[in-house]
Amino acid sequence: MKPTCLIIAHRGDSGSEPENTLKAFESAYHKGADGIELDCHLTRDKKVVVSHDRNLKRITGENRDCCASLYRDLIGLDFGKKEKIPLLVEVFDLFLKKFAVINIEIKSTGVFTNGIEKHIAMLIKQYRCASQIIVSSFNPAHLLRFKRLMPQVRLGYLICEKQDWIARNRYAVRIVGPSTLNLQKELVTLTSFNGLLGLAIPQWIWTVNKKHEMEFWLDRGAQAIITNEPGLLKSVMAGSKKDSACQT
Ligand code: G3P
Ligand code: CA
Repeated sequence: MKPTCLIIAHRGDSGSEPENTLKAFESAYHKGADGIELDCHLTRDKKVVVSHDRNLKRITGENRDCCASLYRDLIGLDFGKKEKIPLLVEVFDLFLKKFAVINIEIKSTGVFTNGIEKHIAMLIKQYRCASQIIVSSFNPAHLLRFKRLMPQVRLGYLICEKQDWIARNRYAVRIVGPSTLNLQKELVTLTSFNGLLGLAIPQWIWTVNKKHEMEFWLDRGAQAIITNEPGLLKSVMAGSKKDSACQT
């Protein structure tokens, strides 16, 4: 029997609620997700905030760079349905008891860092929650810096469709030594899939929102599926369990 796949709600239950908000995380919990994926930035006054975009125009209508802002200047902004920007510490307070896994994606600051890794590590230490956390990034520099601070925390190496897997990532993946490869589903052509299998690193696949795609990845043995539709994935998994019980 294939091991059970984790249901990770992408930016929370973002198919139904405003992405990366406490409401989206609460909804993911009620729909049976095992964990949430969220995106982090560091404000000018060194608070770790949860937002996908660094510039908040798309989400709030306000043309503002969250990394160049003070937290107090962000809390009045509407992230959808009157939700405010969450602090990572608020997510820990409310959701560490509800989820088995919290996947923290560090959004890239380029070659240099503003210190975000250190601030995330401090929170994880304070809450003693290392075993529940997976830190991911497209930028291997963040992963390497984080590894130096907390080698016991799992790392997810993010790879998207636009990147050339063989040429640009294979070597970097070996240096980082991640626990998982977090792959955009479109990337996985047969050639790259065979290459990935050679590395024998468990795969988390994103962003899988349709029933037939969920079935495909469940069948392929993905360790986790990252989805905007955790409720749908839950029911697809319940259905496939019933089917296999019928066959025995
Ligand atoms: O973790 C997978 C996925 O979240 C990476 O892409 O752009 O949705 O943060 P993005
Ligand atoms: Ca993300």
